[in-house]
Amino acid sequence: MAPVFRSLLNVGQRLPTQASPASFAGRFLLLEKFNNGIRPRPNNPLATYTEVSAPYRPEADSFSLPVYTLSKKNCVIYPSAILDEDLRKFYVNGTTVKFAVHPQVASDGNVENIPAITQFPVENLEVTATSSSRTVAVLKTPEEVLPDHFVKLHFPYQITRSVRHLERRKLEHSVTVTDELAKSALCKSEKSFAFFPESLGIVFGQGEQSWGYLIREMTPYPRSPENRMIVPLFALYTPSSKLQEDQKLIIEELIEKSGQDPEAYLLENIYFPILKNWAAVFLQTGVLLEAHGQNTCFEFDDQGKFKRIVFRDFDTHVNKEIRDKNGLSMSGFNPYEVFSRAVDDGSHFSLIYDQAMKVPFDKLADFAEKRYKIPRAKLQEKCRSFLKDVFPGGCAYFPTSRKVYNYAPGVLKVGQKAKLVTTTDEPVWR
Ligand SMILES: Nc1ncnc2c1ncn2[C@@H]1O[C@H](COP(=O)(O)OP(=O)(O)OP(=O)(O)O)[C@@H](O)[C@H]1O
Ligand SMILES: [Mg+2]
Repeated sequence: MAPVFRSLLNVGQRLPTQASPASFAGRFLLLEKFNNGIRPRPNNPLATYTEVSAPYRPEADSFSLPVYTLSKKNCVIYPSAILDEDLRKFYVNGTTVKFAVHPQVASDGNVENIPAITQFPVENLEVTATSSSRTVAVLKTPEEVLPDHFVKLHFPYQITRSVRHLERRKLEHSVTVTDELAKSALCKSEKSFAFFPESLGIVFGQGEQSWGYLIREMTPYPRSPENRMIVPLFALYTPSSKLQEDQKLIIEELIEKSGQDPEAYLLENIYFPILKNWAAVFLQTGVLLEAHGQNTCFEFDDQGKFKRIVFRDFDTHVNKEIRDKNGLSMSGFNPYEVFSRAVDDGSHFSLIYDQAMKVPFDKLADFAEKRYKIPRAKLQEKCRSFLKDVFPGGCAYFPTSRKVYNYAPGVLKVGQKAKLVTTTDEPVWR
């Protein structure tokens, strides 16, 4: 069997009517579905917990996503300034909107508003689940050929630690983050920065608890004229669960193809671009991206050369002090996601950096140690020093105790909100 990376070369940009494995989207989606490597971890026994029914899980085939035709006046619409016009016309059309509901939710009459929504005319899109399960990629619409895109869905059941709601305030927040990133100086000046626009949110009803769905475009922004391929961070170091025999990891193929020293390759193409862009986004916009293995993607050209980091998932924390200092408005953000140093002791920063981002950092270091005998301490030391340069004043946001935070042990139970506590562990990647 050909190594995964070789089969990823030669990408196209638009999804035709169906994502064949040979298309740009098809290759990206294969990685989403079979290279996510989600496994229980000692400090997260719920890492594989899911209430998603088997036909809708990442490893399952495509399925039908019901979209109901609702009157525009019963909905609230959040369009981004950079929303693709073809997508806008498809989902918001004159006096009606198309309203997507996860099929597991559509068949649960106990979910608020389901009886009211499902009485309206329905059509189906063919979709397939991505690694997060509740975000799906659209493969086929009844008529039109649309730009590649995902639909992130309200899913009021638990996946890993969280119940995956998508209420009005989250939708407005994600679209606001999209617009703030698109307007940032970083977006214009930093060649290695990109993101998947979360460019249209539609909510049924007007109340605060009303919920809806989000369109996430699959074409990274800023839009690039070249053919590129996208690899989720987790897929760099996770073997495909589809291929039985010994397979080379994508990261190993990339290193070999580059002809570069492995340590230099890993630092310059993986660790440093993540750190640089993650810190710059925070310092410029106050948006604290949760750049873990699933929310961070890499864009390569058709020769396998690193081009850009592509971030996704804008259900993020936002720091008020940074926005005030930079003269930026707080309008459109979810109040539950806004934090300031005055009330936050660094716990959320620690959870995102010392826990969520540490997982892929450690996995890459495991690989580097095993395959090339690169001591992990050396990678950590270089990242610490790089972070100091790209995140000046960063220590003001991490816990003053110099200890890392985590969820309290023993409270990671289904249906319970886990408490954040300080630990005795020292941070290793900062
Ligand atoms: N390697 C991985 N690392 C982290 N999460 C993973 C990985 N593989 C799959 N996942 C899944 O991705 C989801 C990560 O949670 P997160 O809150 O970032 O996503 P989400 O908001 O539900 O969806 P999306 O990222 O599509 O916006 C979880 O459902 C988790 O099970
Ligand atoms: Mg995510």
